[in-house]
Amino acid sequence: DWQMSDYVETAVQAIREQVGDKRVILGLSGGVDSSVAAALIHKAIGKQLTCVFVDNGLLRKGEREKVERIFREHFKINLKVAKSGSRFLKKLKGVTDPERKRKIIGREFVKVFDEEVTKIGQVDFLAQGTLYPDVIESVAIGGNPAALIKSHHNVGGLPKRMKLKLLEPLRELFKDEVRALGEELGLSKEMVWRHPFPGPGLGVRVIGEIKSSYLKILREADAILLEEMKRTGYYEKVWQAFCVFLPVQTVGVMGDERTYDYVIAVRVVESQDAMTADWAHIPHDILQTISSRIINEVKGVNRVVLDISSKPPSTIEWE
Ligand code: XMP
Repeated sequence: DWQMSDYVETAVQAIREQVGDKRVILGLSGGVDSSVAAALIHKAIGKQLTCVFVDNGLLRKGEREKVERIFREHFKINLKVAKSGSRFLKKLKGVTDPERKRKIIGREFVKVFDEEVTKIGQVDFLAQGTLYPDVIESVAIGGNPAALIKSHHNVGGLPKRMKLKLLEPLRELFKDEVRALGEELGLSKEMVWRHPFPGPGLGVRVIGEIKSSYLKILREADAILLEEMKRTGYYEKVWQAFCVFLPVQTVGVMGDERTYDYVIAVRVVESQDAMTADWAHIPHDILQTISSRIINEVKGVNRVVLDISSKPPSTIEWE
């Protein structure tokens, strides 16, 4: 609409004024916020922007390829992809505690990102897809350590070490405004309506120690769940839908063979802001399809369970 195109013009002008002829780097995660920030900044300053996508080995199936397709091939954005999965896995070997896993993943992310920036050379600005509610929330968490139940590593950390100036063109916007802006900039509906995905990714959805064999199983199961949620129109109706890998083996039968395989938990929740959440009442026939597809198509899984816990007292993620 005309209001949003006016907004784009104003925002583009503001970015050009702030940046001048300097260079900008942006950590692209493939999530809504960093994607919209990338598209907007690219519209303003083109090749002065470099995006860095860190493949930490904890991403969903096809995620890196999707980001490359959209941003490098379609938008022609200067995109660097750091394939660092094995580095992350090495650091995570033997680690089972959720908060330690988060810290390791966060720290390694900063290291990889740092290295990529160094390779690029002279950079002056770090762009971030910080929204208005993020600004408020980090102030709240900073003032009350008890509020820090889980360490979210989206805000802060990087710029101080790197002596970069911050560029945060979405700082005054709410989520729905960011989605509208994304569509105005040519991002697909599918892209701007993506569910939230945690920074530590599948790292907090493999319970306990992370192994590449577990990640492989989880990726396949999760892809099936998302496919079925989208096919039936339920993806858009819920806040988040994902699978969790449980490192528990249980007995089953396949043909006349006894199996002893892993368990996948299906987590689908409704929520307004992730502070509270209800488990989503997905029709049984859809759950039936999800369960039989995962068990039949994913090698290593012989049991699917449904998480029927609400937040509080449970959290949305299992770790
Ligand atoms: P919980 O599990 O605390 O999750 O109910 C609330 C929301 O936050 C997401 N989440 C994270 N996001 N880094 C993130 O960037 C994290 O470590 C993290 N932990 C949880 C979760 O997916 C949900 O949307």
